[in-house]
Amino acid sequence: MATRHLGCGMADIIAPQTASPAVIRRSDYRPPAWLVPDIELDFALDPARTQVRATLTVERNGAHDGPLRLDGDGLVPVAIRVDGKVLKQDQWHLEDGTLVLPLCGDRHEVETLVEIAPQDNSKLMGLYASGGLLCTQCEAEGFRRITFFPDRPDVLSRYRVRMVADKSAYPILLANGDPVESGDLGDGRHYAVWTDPYPKPCYLFALVAGDLACNADRFVTMSGRQVRLGIWVKEADIPRTAHAMQALKNSMAWDERVYGREYDLDVFNIVAVDDFNFGAMENKGLNIFNSRYILADPETATDLDYDGVEGVVAHEYFHNWSGNRVTCRDWFQLSLKEGFTVFRDQNFSADMGSHAVKRIEDVRILRAGQFQEDNGPLAHPVRPESYMEISNFYTATIYNKGAELIRMMALMAGPERFRAGTDLYFDRHDGEAATCEDFVVAMEEGADLDLRQFRLWYEQAGTPRVKALLSHDPATATATLTLEQQIPPTPGQPDKKPMAIPLRTALFDSATGAHGRDEVLMLTEARQSFLFENVAHGPILSINRGFSAPVIVETNLSQPDLAFLAAHDDDPFARYEAMQQLMVNVLIGRIAGSPVGEDAVIEAVRGAITNPALDAAFVAEAVRLPSEAYLGDQMERVDPDAIHAARDALQQRIGAALEPLWRDIHARTGAASFSLSPAAKGARKLRNAALHYLVASGAADGPAIAFAQFSEADNMTERQAALATLANGGSEEREAALDIFYNRYASDPLTLDKWFQTQAFALHPAIVDQVAELGRHKDFTLANPNRVRALIGAFAANQWGFHQASGRGYALVADCIVALDRINPQTAARLVPPLGRWRRFDGARAAMMREQLQRILATPGLSKDVMEQAGKSLD
Ligand code: ARG
Ligand code: ZN
Repeated sequence: MATRHLGCGMADIIAPQTASPAVIRRSDYRPPAWLVPDIELDFALDPARTQVRATLTVERNGAHDGPLRLDGDGLVPVAIRVDGKVLKQDQWHLEDGTLVLPLCGDRHEVETLVEIAPQDNSKLMGLYASGGLLCTQCEAEGFRRITFFPDRPDVLSRYRVRMVADKSAYPILLANGDPVESGDLGDGRHYAVWTDPYPKPCYLFALVAGDLACNADRFVTMSGRQVRLGIWVKEADIPRTAHAMQALKNSMAWDERVYGREYDLDVFNIVAVDDFNFGAMENKGLNIFNSRYILADPETATDLDYDGVEGVVAHEYFHNWSGNRVTCRDWFQLSLKEGFTVFRDQNFSADMGSHAVKRIEDVRILRAGQFQEDNGPLAHPVRPESYMEISNFYTATIYNKGAELIRMMALMAGPERFRAGTDLYFDRHDGEAATCEDFVVAMEEGADLDLRQFRLWYEQAGTPRVKALLSHDPATATATLTLEQQIPPTPGQPDKKPMAIPLRTALFDSATGAHGRDEVLMLTEARQSFLFENVAHGPILSINRGFSAPVIVETNLSQPDLAFLAAHDDDPFARYEAMQQLMVNVLIGRIAGSPVGEDAVIEAVRGAITNPALDAAFVAEAVRLPSEAYLGDQMERVDPDAIHAARDALQQRIGAALEPLWRDIHARTGAASFSLSPAAKGARKLRNAALHYLVASGAADGPAIAFAQFSEADNMTERQAALATLANGGSEEREAALDIFYNRYASDPLTLDKWFQTQAFALHPAIVDQVAELGRHKDFTLANPNRVRALIGAFAANQWGFHQASGRGYALVADCIVALDRINPQTAARLVPPLGRWRRFDGARAAMMREQLQRILATPGLSKDVMEQAGKSLD
């Protein structure tokens, strides 16, 4: 070990305090100046005062004489030692929280001691207390709130973690990797030591201490190793962990089968906590979850909740390879792990259930979240160029559009070549911090693809628009498809280059109902034509089948052509899409004041619900009217009131015109007993759709039927759907059902969230008053992110309510942002984007939305999280 003496070359440069937060740029990436091959952490855990001793082996990386810089956020060093010697006050300094140590040698042992107060940590980043537990969240930059460290994902270390805590309050002590030692200290305290053999970035560090019970199981890997699985929750919640455990075992087997990836430690633990900023976290060997993605039973979880548990458990498990074994070089590469992992969890869920329905759901999520983001002031590329606060970049673009990029590569390669590409990627970069470019190169080599133009998908923001015009020449029996692409300008990117867009296409013969070859057309130019031969009859275009590319397609399909596809397309997504487009066209007509062609929609819905060949879950998706928000996206200028009125009226007409059918479906889909089989889930979904139309029809007994479903259901899927249907109206059953629901679930936070959320989503004229009142309810709290999202997050997504002409919805959300920012900036910042959509609304609404953004920005002491989002939203 080189140990030149300390104190040489001390550069006491104090960074100037700047008013607006610094911009971090991708182009500024430099390899780390120092590496930390090993770290030992020693925690004396206590909610009020936890001591953290960290011993880092540091190594100079390359030839330079720069000091060691250890990130810190709100930390004050109690003691610092270098190679065992205590440093004096003038041998270190803090720069904006960062600990700067001039070191002369190339390898040292640096020890720091800090004290933190988990119970005061309301940001829920770093080490915090949640319902009697102590737990951590480090991604992206929480580790620097625990100890001084180079908090960046390209510094990989081997961890040894020792925890000491009061044994009665914290009988269970968990950390990453494998347990190696534990025992009593004789003074009421005990300790445990865990080591993780796999070097990892600090964002994957985790510990949990608390009084937890375990659902224990095991999994035998493909090479025959035994893995001990544990899902840790409060004792009373153990019966609600079975679905998560099954999902975990299914995920482990699926990753072996589909990607050849085996789990690599002897232990895999999951802990559920109630206070969590997002869904879950893939810490190595110790995933920490928002309890809403672990706990499920028929009494409290909907089928959607069950699917959420399965999908998120899989997502975090899959990160063990796509994220942990191969991690990210820097946070601009976030989609490298998130986009790929979302793609993996989507395919897993499809394999566990229905491919058709899963694709429809995923596209709906993409359009609702990502298309809106891509079309507004916060639009950014899948690989961004800059950020102020990385927490703001855990976005639908990074996750969901990122997944679509992987999906397009998989489509272009085909299953075998895609697998060869991922094998090469994992093998080549195992143990490394990689980039999106590394993934693309591995795909080019392993899957034999030319991705030169495709790379633009990582660089250019904005949703491409594709115009598709099909013409037919009966004389030559040919059809010509002309495609034009256009990518709208986005912040910082006024001009765009044409992208490589794979469009799965088929031409239907309207006479025979059959179609020619289903092929992937590669649109690579701004304008391009494709010739089809042997097309005798007038063909009907089915394009972007399976939603092969994340683009907006405009066609010149007539309503009869759409009705044909809605009834005959054998690609389930395309069939659903045709139905949606049929509905959109009619609704846009109604909004513009001409309600024509509604009978075609009614007939298409009738066709779907009377077709015995279709599965119930698909039918339920197909007959659902596009959401108010989706309709808004189709308009130049969103008119929330006109959209609501038009959609409501069409719903009423479909309800009334097919009333006997809805009654019949509702009556025959009531199952004898609860099951999670795909057939049973599909039946519940269709039953709820039928109930919804039945109530919408205005039938006098509608509310009573809904109330009966609410009262008699043996599962939350039917109970909540009935409650939601009632919540839209003004019946006396509405209040009764809400009271019953509250009294039944007041002591179960996850289910009480549904009570708040159902009301916040309601299409009710008094919604703003109702949400304001719920904000003063004794069970509402800004301290719990799930509760905030259930009420305020849901309300901000309720287009008709949030955009009420009075502007009170805007003020309500802005008030919440300002108040929450003092407690939890990350969660507060997530509420800003709905206000940032002001350009899409009329002048009066836009002015009121801007006014709220300005008021937020003028708040003294605003976090950089909210400042970045509100500032960009006003630009
Ligand atoms: N890596 C986690 C996941 O997607 C999410 C971490 C989110 N972090 C954040 N600061 N928002 O599985
Ligand atoms: Zn993830």
